Amino acid sequence: MSKSIAPHGKHTRIPTLAEYDRLYRESIEDPRSFWGKQGERVTWFHPFHSVLDIDTEEVDFSWYQGGRLNVSFNCVDRHAAERPNKTAILWAGNEPGEYKHITYRELKHQVARLANVLKAKGVQKGDRVCIYLPMIPEAAYAMLACARIGAVHSVVFAGFSAESLRDRIIDAGCKVVITANEAPRGPKKVALKHIVDVAVDGLKVVESVLVARRTSTDVPMTVGRDTFLDEEMSRQRSTCPVEWMASEDPLFILYTSGSTGKPKGVLHTTAGYLIYTAMTHDLVFDLRPDDIHFCTADVGWVTGHSYIVYGPLCNGATSVMFESVPNYPDSGRIWSVVDDTKATILYTAPTALRALRRAGDDFVKKHSRKSLRLLGTVGEPIDPETWQWYHDVVGEQRCDIVDTWWQTETGGVLISPLAGVTPMKPGSATRPFFGVKPLLVDEAGAPIEWKQGTAIQGNLCLASAWPGQARTIWGDHRRFRETYFSKFPNLYFTGDGSTRDEDGDWWITGRVDDVLNVSGHRIGTAELESALAQNDAVAESAVVGYPHDLKGQGIYAYVVVKPEFKDQNADQIIGALKETVRHVIGPIATPDRITLVSGLPKTRSGKVMRRILRKVAHGQFTELGDITTLADPGVVEEIIAAAKKG
Ligand code: WTA
Repeated sequence: MSKSIAPHGKHTRIPTLAEYDRLYRESIEDPRSFWGKQGERVTWFHPFHSVLDIDTEEVDFSWYQGGRLNVSFNCVDRHAAERPNKTAILWAGNEPGEYKHITYRELKHQVARLANVLKAKGVQKGDRVCIYLPMIPEAAYAMLACARIGAVHSVVFAGFSAESLRDRIIDAGCKVVITANEAPRGPKKVALKHIVDVAVDGLKVVESVLVARRTSTDVPMTVGRDTFLDEEMSRQRSTCPVEWMASEDPLFILYTSGSTGKPKGVLHTTAGYLIYTAMTHDLVFDLRPDDIHFCTADVGWVTGHSYIVYGPLCNGATSVMFESVPNYPDSGRIWSVVDDTKATILYTAPTALRALRRAGDDFVKKHSRKSLRLLGTVGEPIDPETWQWYHDVVGEQRCDIVDTWWQTETGGVLISPLAGVTPMKPGSATRPFFGVKPLLVDEAGAPIEWKQGTAIQGNLCLASAWPGQARTIWGDHRRFRETYFSKFPNLYFTGDGSTRDEDGDWWITGRVDDVLNVSGHRIGTAELESALAQNDAVAESAVVGYPHDLKGQGIYAYVVVKPEFKDQNADQIIGALKETVRHVIGPIATPDRITLVSGLPKTRSGKVMRRILRKVAHGQFTELGDITTLADPGVVEEIIAAAKKG
């Protein structure tokens, strides 16, 4: 039950729940003093003079004003000086047995070389660089190289399509794209460079494409634009001075889906993000000096940013980077990586656990897992059965589980047990982290009061500021204000629903907006509908989620086809529609079910009544609520019949 020793010999002890309570109160009552002390977690080139300034009207948060620091220095140089031979990144490649240890010393050299390559390509402080890479060490080098010279990275998950990638490159105005020839992913190879070629075709903004050679496959190179990353790096020096950044200088943009429009570029800045990820990584996981931290996420998502790269490396820990997939070559892969790397912490998503559980306990038991001391989950609610399996079978009842709730926009974990401190409840994210003030409000925006002994339910909002929070949406501050701070005035609205139980613990129930959570990935229904619209056969469509055994939520599309396509084979149309979505967004967005209908249930003012579509998708065909306001109540019968059929 005792708290670890933070790296650099700083002792942050949270021995008991009472101590958590005391510190939590302090963090809420006097946030400036609390967060001011946390500023000591990083090394400053110049100290800050003010902990927090907020302009509520503009929704402008400024943390650690006056300070200057560099993220790459904090994640690399200071550890390279103190523990050069410690493994920073323990890379587990796609094939079993394929491992590479990158020490902090080597990390420093590689990051410096890559930073020098970027400089040679004309990248300057404030310029944007797109990273579209598999899970190879170069992904981390590239992120840290950007941070080193003050460039802003935009990592795009390498499963997104050329069109999604192109949109993101244009929106952020990326000067350079860093990619690989191919990405091995389980038994497959993804032609990354080809996707980049399509994505950047004719784009003037992209001056250079740097290509890592992950496999031996040749790829076409465009003269004057494309060069091989290894060749470029070998020509550069292994030292590169850091750019001392202001606390609020941008660190990265990461695109995520919302309930309307195209994905938005969530912007995180330098000091607050780094301090918050380092602190949460330290305290939530009860970090110890010899920990091997294995987070199975991809760096294309925020979990990879915060808990593979920035949090662990800022803390001088060893971070496992896993290139493959949990079922390659079989469903025991994660456990074999745990054994091979001697991972002490495993941090993964419920969707992976559900699939591994279904594959059978033998795959787990074949491996020892004795190095593990702590288990974590993230990305979606975990059902109590899966939680119990994780605890009893994977962790053999000796490992705590931290169910961590947070978002791309929050930068780091906001609600979670602290390992070894907070009593666990299967399925509950339990308590807020320091400085975080969750609040439930009803539809009208009125706070719902919680009293000991009673449970409440509502829209989850946050009533305080914390250093890791997003500062804006790239190029669209108004959208930032409107999306997060206008539905409920002066509160940050998460888009999630939650209950708070009799003991005061939090249970996140999932999105209450038009965002789906499919296998832990956020996908907007509006985005799916506009992807479907790119298929000629589509007159209009409406997409909703439904409960899915493995994915958590499945994608259910109701599609109205144009009259001239009515006579075509339905299966062929459905197949083509799925292909369109894969092509426009990427395979993760492929609809699970598509039902062709002749009309959507709309009110007389033309609004689609999603409530009805959701119920039908859930398999509920009666008690659909009041349908008298529909322009044509008859479509409901047809929708039900179509859903039953297919
Ligand atoms: C969901 C991932 C329940 C939630 C870090 C949130 C969770 C969205 C949990 C953010 C959890 C994340 N329990 N739900 N422990 N963690 N979520 O931006 O709906 O990819 O709003 O960030 O995932 O997804 P994002």
